[in-house]
This record gives sequence, structure tokens and C-alpha cells, in this order.
Amino acid sequence: MSAAAACCCLLLILATTTASSLHGQQTDGGCFTTERDALLSFKAGIAEDPQSILASWNGQDCCLWSGVRCSNRTGQVIGLDLRNDFPFADFFDFSWNYGKRHGIHGKISPSMLALHHLEYLDLNGNYLGGIGVSIPRFLGSLESLVYLNLSWMNFVGKVPPQLGNLSRLLYLDLYNKWNPGGELFAGDISWLARLPSLKFLDMSGVNLRTTGNWVQVLNMLSNLRALRLEDCRLVFPQISVVHSNLTSLQMLDLSNNWLHTLNPTYWFWDVGTIRHLDLSGNEIDEPFPDAMGNMTCLEALHLGYNHLTIVKSKALKNLCNLRMLTLEENWINQYLSEFLEGLPHCVWSKMELLDLSMTNLSGEIPKWINKWTDLRIVKLSSNRLVGSVPLEIGPLSKLKILYLDSNQFNGSILEDH
Ligand SMILES: *[C@@H]1O[C@H](CO)[C@@H](O)[C@H](O)[C@H]1NC(C)=O
Ligand SMILES: *[C@@H]1O[C@H](CO)[C@@H](O)[C@H](O)[C@H]1NC(C)=O
Ligand SMILES: *[C@@H]1O[C@H](CO)[C@@H](O)[C@H](O)[C@H]1NC(C)=O
Ligand SMILES: *[C@@H]1O[C@H](CO)[C@@H](O)[C@H](O)[C@H]1NC(C)=O
Ligand SMILES: *[C@@H]1O[C@H](CO)[C@@H](O)[C@H](O)[C@H]1NC(C)=O
Ligand SMILES: *[C@@H]1O[C@H](CO)[C@@H](O)[C@H](O)[C@H]1NC(C)=O
Ligand SMILES: *[C@@H]1O[C@H](CO)[C@@H](O)[C@H](O)[C@H]1NC(C)=O
Repeated sequence: MSAAAACCCLLLILATTTASSLHGQQTDGGCFTTERDALLSFKAGIAEDPQSILASWNGQDCCLWSGVRCSNRTGQVIGLDLRNDFPFADFFDFSWNYGKRHGIHGKISPSMLALHHLEYLDLNGNYLGGIGVSIPRFLGSLESLVYLNLSWMNFVGKVPPQLGNLSRLLYLDLYNKWNPGGELFAGDISWLARLPSLKFLDMSGVNLRTTGNWVQVLNMLSNLRALRLEDCRLVFPQISVVHSNLTSLQMLDLSNNWLHTLNPTYWFWDVGTIRHLDLSGNEIDEPFPDAMGNMTCLEALHLGYNHLTIVKSKALKNLCNLRMLTLEENWINQYLSEFLEGLPHCVWSKMELLDLSMTNLSGEIPKWINKWTDLRIVKLSSNRLVGSVPLEIGPLSKLKILYLDSNQFNGSILEDH
């Protein structure tokens, strides 16, 4: 062994000893006793573990337990990933097939707070609340957290403002639609402004009806990339233009919120970075606002299941990046060719998804549909389309799904199609 290598070795031993003495005794197995005990208390709170994911939670080295991640450098527990990959299946089994659920069932033990270095916590899809149980306030004391996923967990009641103490958080997922036990609500969300680094926020299914200042609060989160507020009962505040601070926002989902208007003063028209905008399932009964034409980064625009009455595709004439457009169940009331002609010609060869079902479109499918070479999914069901289906759809080699049912087409579909 060279002198340099010996020296390195010595330093390593010294470093390990220091770490151990600083953070409580390290067991022989390389896992801190305090952290192992905390994990064992967590395990003790779990009443059912249908997939036996905690079966490996014994033995000295907790860093080897499934779902536990330790730092290579310090040996401390930095990640806990116990997510259930089948939350949707479990939801539909909830009432009648209790025994076959995949998620773990029980309570989150406050002993977790001994995991001082925990950066990553994913518990999504597990039943660690139960009927009438709210998100534990003590989670707000896991101050190292960078990632917190509590989606699909059936928590009810108020989202604890203590989460505002997690000032390092980059990802917060509280998605809570499909909750059989009741409802999560937030009331005052000013605490979110104390999470300035947040990049991803999903509060879908959390009732924000009484949260009057949600636009102002979220506008402080200038690092947000993705904001999902599906089915939050949002009410837009009666204020004029709020200039958006969200200069990195790429994804905005405000679907299923009973919004009635596309008010030109809405702050999100201002966000030139949005690529994915979902406003479907609202009650919007207005034409596209001109401001939408300035959202030139838009790649996906979802406006299905609204009450749009005048859909002037010309309003979208600057949106050369558009790949997906869904407008199902609105009143377009035009010739299909007229509608398509209005979309910018720069998207013809790039559009991948067009859903125009149930929109009262009339006329024939234009032969120049063959110029839309990237089409993968086209849905034109339940309109008043006539004539024969043009042979020109034949060369659309990427097309995987084509719905033409419930129209008034004549002629036949041939092999050449
Ligand atoms: C830590 O160890 C794991 C497994 O040996 C390895 O995949 C990972 O890259 C290491 N991380 C660092 C930061 O060294
Ligand atoms: C949280 O978990 C769900 C379910 O696996 C996943 O769809 C979602 O993307 C996760 N959230 C984040 C921020 O990674
Ligand atoms: C955490 O947040 C709550 C409510 O926002 C606050 O009262 C409390 O003092 C905070 N705790 C710590 C340790 O910062
Ligand atoms: C914009 O965001 C910063 C923090 O990122 C905040 O200090 C400021 O108040 C915000 N401005 C508005 C108008 O909300
Ligand atoms: C579109 O953007 C331009 C340039 O920033 C601006 O002058 C114009 O008012 C915007 N149009 C709408 C309708 O917001
Ligand atoms: C369907 O569109 C036609 C115009 O193409 C219009 O005359 C008719 O009223 C529309 N039907 C409904 C129910 O709005
Ligand atoms: C099919 O419909 C078109 C348009 O309504 C009509 O011009 C044509 O004659 C019809 N063809 C047949 C074979 O019925």
C-alpha cells in the first residue's frame, strides 16, 4: 500500500468515526441505530402490507431494506419510496374487494421525525390515513424534504399549513381526486409562498373554493414548472390583470373547475412559456380570447367538454408548436374544412392529436388531409359529416386511432384507405 493510499484509508476511517459520533451510534451493519429504530416504529404502525414490501425490513443494515435509500457518503437515510403502483385499481376495488388492495394500510408514526436527513418521501397510493384522518401536521417538520408525494392517499380535512415549513421542497404532490372518504380542503394557502423553490405542485382534488387569494399566492412561486389544479372548485378573483411571475411555467392544468369564462385578464395568458394548457371540463361559453394567440409555446391545448359556441381557429394562427388539440363536446358549428383551414399551416405536418368529436362539424373530410402527415389520433365521431371518406387518409402512416362513427358518410371503406 502506498503512503498516499494509506493516508486516504486513514482519512476514510476518521470520517466514518466522526459521522458516527455526530449522529448517534452506527450499527455494525452501516445504518444508524436511531434511523433504524425510526423505520421499525413506522413499520409497527402498518397493520396490513398486502404486497409484503416491508418483509425485508429486518436485519441490521436498514440501508438494504426495500424502499429505503441511504446516502453513500454519510450512511444516513435520505429516501423512502413506498409508493403503491396500483392506486387506480385499488380505488375501484375499495368498497368490495378490500383484501385484494395493493397499498399498505395503517398510520404514519411520528417516529419518522428522527429521519432528519430525509429528502425524498413517496407514500402515494397507500392508506395511511383512513376515514376522517387528515395529513399529519408533523410531516411539516421533516425539514430536509425535497420531494413529497402524498397523492391517492385518501386523506381528508385541512391540508396542514405546517407543510409551509418544508422550505427546500421542489416537488409537492397532494393529488386527491377519487377520495371515497371525503374531501381535502386548503382554506388559506399563504403557507405555499414559503416554498419559493417549488417546481412542481399538484393539488388536484383539493377544494380551494374558499381560497380567495390563490392566484396571488401561486404567483409568488416563480420557479414553478408544472401546476396542476384539476377539480379544485377554483374561483377566479375579481381583479384585473395580474402580471404573471411564473416565467418558467410549462404545464398548467385547470380542468374540471366550473370556470365560465376565458377572461382576457387571466394571468396565464401572460405566460409565454406554457406548453401544455388544460381547460377541459369547465363551463366556458366564450370564443377563444385573442391573448391565446400569444401563447406561442403551446404544444397541447385541451378545451373539451365546455360550452364554446364560436371556435375561430384563426385565433390560434401563431401557435406553430401545437401538436395536440382537443375540443370534444363543444359547438364548433362549421365546415370541418373551414375549421382546419383556419389552423396555422405550420402545424399541418406536425399535429399528432385532433379530437373534434361531438362538435356539430359539417361538410366532408377534405382531400388535403394527406398533408397532415404526423396525425396519430383523429376523433371525428358524432358530427354531421357527409360524403365519402377520402382515399387520401391512406398515406397517413402514423395514424393509430381514427373514429368516424355517428356521422352521415356514404360510400365504402376500401383496402386503399
Ligand atoms: C451511490 O451508490 C449507488 C449504488 O452503489 C450508486 O448507483 C450511486 O451512483 C451512488 N451515488 C453517488 C452519489 O455516489
Ligand atoms: C406522485 O405519484 C404519482 C403516482 O405514482 C405520480 O403519477 C406522480 O407523478 C408523482 N408526483 C411527482 C411529483 O413525481
Ligand atoms: C411550522 O409551521 C407552523 C404553521 O405554519 C408554525 O406555527 C410553526 O412554528 C412552524 N414550525 C417550525 C419548526 O418552524
Ligand atoms: C414574484 O415572485 C417573487 C419570489 O419569487 C416574489 O418575491 C414577488 O413578490 C412576486 N411578485 C408578485 C407580483 O407576486
Ligand atoms: C400579444 O403580445 C404582444 C407583444 O408582447 C402584445 O403587444 C399584445 O398586446 C399581445 N396581445 C394580446 C391579445 O394579449
Ligand atoms: C349546428 O351547426 C349549424 C351550422 O353549421 C347550425 O345552423 C346549427 O344550429 C347547429 N346546431 C346546434 C344544435 O347548434
Ligand atoms: C355521398 O354524399 C355526397 C355528399 O352528400 C353526395 O354528393 C354523393 O352523391 C353521395 N354518394 C353516394 C354514392 O350516395
